[in-house]
Amino acid sequence: MSETYSLIDATMKVIQDRRSIREFTDEPVSDQDMDMILEAGRQAPSGENAQPWRFIIIKDEGMRKKMGAIAGGGSGRRFTAEFVTKKMQERFANLQDEVKRQAAFHKLTSGQVSTFMADAPVNLVVCGKKDVWDTPYDTSAAIENILLMVTALGLGACWVIAPCIDIRDEERIKALLGMPEGYKAISILSIGHPTRPHRQRPRLPIKELVFSEKWGDPYYKEQA
Ligand SMILES: Cc1cc2nc3c(=O)[nH]c(=O)nc-3n(C[C@H](O)[C@H](O)[C@H](O)COP(=O)(O)O)c2cc1C
Repeated sequence: MSETYSLIDATMKVIQDRRSIREFTDEPVSDQDMDMILEAGRQAPSGENAQPWRFIIIKDEGMRKKMGAIAGGGSGRRFTAEFVTKKMQERFANLQDEVKRQAAFHKLTSGQVSTFMADAPVNLVVCGKKDVWDTPYDTSAAIENILLMVTALGLGACWVIAPCIDIRDEERIKALLGMPEGYKAISILSIGHPTRPHRQRPRLPIKELVFSEKWGDPYYKEQA
């Protein structure tokens, strides 16, 4: 009984402790840790058990720098578009401090966001088969498994989609990695040892998220 409870507690702790980590020490990720991480990905569920994922491990510094440069360009374009279409201003509407707001706009449009992957000891490229219906969902399940194993191992990781969303950058990544036509670069996971502990980013209150029987009827009722 107590063993069961410790497994439940441990599982919840790993889920709650996971953070997006974007700063890493130079310490490499061991081969044993990589084996655990990859096995966690392999065990994920997939529609019709298609297992449409393939993984490319990038450790070479030259390759990491090239990928970081591609990722930075894409992020810069994406956030510049958000800025021009005023979406970014909407997103930061609650941030009253003008200096902080300008700094955020500058950071996001600078092309520096997502370049951190160049400094991660490992970039794990998650590739997905294009002709499988559920590939985006399947690969997301594998990615979350991987992120949780990363956390359990005391490592940190960030799920990076920016260079895979922009079609030109995705083509650049595919060419860099020699990927065949039938596959798409779905996401890149930058993995390493975190430089410092990170605070949890806020989550919406559970009451706002869950309904009972139909949309809008609260599942969690106010205490009398
Ligand atoms: C589908 C997806 C795509 C993401 N893409 C990026 C990205 O391109 N660059 C980045 O720095 N973070 C990216 N993230 C990380 C999110 O910003 C992060 O998960 C979110 O802010 C919540 O923070 P947390 O992971 O620390 O809880 C992505 C996360 C998900 C799930």
